[in-house]
Amino acid sequence: MSEEKTNTSKLWGGRFAEATDAFVQRFTASVEFDKRLYKADIEGSVAHATMLEKAGILSSVEKTQIISGLHEIQNDIESGAFSWSIELEDVHMNIEAALTAKIGDTGKKLHTGRSRNDQVATDIRLYVREEIDHISLLVRALQDGILNLAEQNTDTIMPGFTHLQTAQPITFGHHLMAWFEMLQRDFERLQDCRKRVNISPLGSAALAGTTYPIDRELTASLLNFDRPSDNSLDSVSDRDFAIELSAAASLIMMHLSRFSEEIVLWTSSQFNFVDLPDRFCTGSSIMPQKKNPDVPELIRGKSGRVFGHLVSLLTLMKSQPLAYNKDNQEDKEPLFDTLDTLKDSLTAYANMVPAIKANRENMQLAATQGFATATDLADYLVKKGMPFRDAHEIVGKTVAYCIEHNKGLNQLELEELQSFSDSISNDVFDVLTLEGSVSSRNHIGGTAPSQVKAAIANARALIT
Ligand code: ARG
Repeated sequence: MSEEKTNTSKLWGGRFAEATDAFVQRFTASVEFDKRLYKADIEGSVAHATMLEKAGILSSVEKTQIISGLHEIQNDIESGAFSWSIELEDVHMNIEAALTAKIGDTGKKLHTGRSRNDQVATDIRLYVREEIDHISLLVRALQDGILNLAEQNTDTIMPGFTHLQTAQPITFGHHLMAWFEMLQRDFERLQDCRKRVNISPLGSAALAGTTYPIDRELTASLLNFDRPSDNSLDSVSDRDFAIELSAAASLIMMHLSRFSEEIVLWTSSQFNFVDLPDRFCTGSSIMPQKKNPDVPELIRGKSGRVFGHLVSLLTLMKSQPLAYNKDNQEDKEPLFDTLDTLKDSLTAYANMVPAIKANRENMQLAATQGFATATDLADYLVKKGMPFRDAHEIVGKTVAYCIEHNKGLNQLELEELQSFSDSISNDVFDVLTLEGSVSSRNHIGGTAPSQVKAAIANARALIT
């Protein structure tokens, strides 16, 4: 099985008498996917070396050599000159070995007072923190696009739905502001998660801390963490922060899947509420007339893999004894794919939403179907002194009459309406119009154009 008798090429090879099996080497390596942590890894090492010198563990010459070596390695990686080796297992040992190759024996001192366990925990937190900031900006960009579209549509009337059946007239601006609200909670969840991400595990070493006189406050502040973590065992082992971020990501994808579902429906010829520009759609290889809303459909579909990754991460962490276990190496692929998918989906949405064109006439026409103002008629009767249940019954009968005579509520003659209740007079037609219906829902959170304008102004202040 073994190809060489010793394991001298390994940074941990000292106690081994035979070489790693080739399969085991491939099976245990993570460099193929964790190399994307290189920037965080180097940043963490620079902070660690800076602290080691302040603590008198490295000389100032050694510290300078190490830091400039690490910066050269970063350049090599970014220019494509760096060669990653699977024999060196992961990003951490690849970089450490390259450092020693570059600067000689001083490179071997970098790992004093730390372990790959606190190193990887630090790297992921640094990486995730940057991703949260990037994703938060994308959420803000999307919210901004939604606000702009909502502003153009504060008085665009459409049917509001429950059970996907016409319920009551609403304004398109109001509908869009519901999307905004969902994203606002998503944004807040990301910020909240960031607080728990932004704690420094560095100095926890393998699990118990280290015998060197390290300064954890210093490394925490050099890396812009809020503070060092409080328990070394917990710091090297728990990935709850990544699970929490995946949960926040899943909620964002769930929201995007809902927006997507609506866009798919609205762009269908049956609804024809909105147009998406051609650049966000694709055609069919057989049906020449087709213009498919592939982007929202794909995002709706991609929510599935993000939810799956959340379950993977929970299952990965479940039942793990303290402290670090190699299981944790499996955190990276689901986490990275979650972040990639989320960023792509948000970018697509931030680009697509400003390009949505509302077909106002079709929306308005659809709102005239399906007796959307039936509740308004019942409310009208209540305001004339009738108990709500009786009003509900009377309007139900009126709707049945309309269905039988193929008329809308606002197409009935006054005499026809009065045959259902003598409380009805000429002013009824004010409430049976769509405009009257929406503008009378005039309170915080209501669909009246003046309320939607106020909600947009508040939202604008919130995000700028
Ligand atoms: N590649 C490892 C991971 O991602 C780094 C930490 C390994 N630590 C160890 N003692 N084997 O989890």
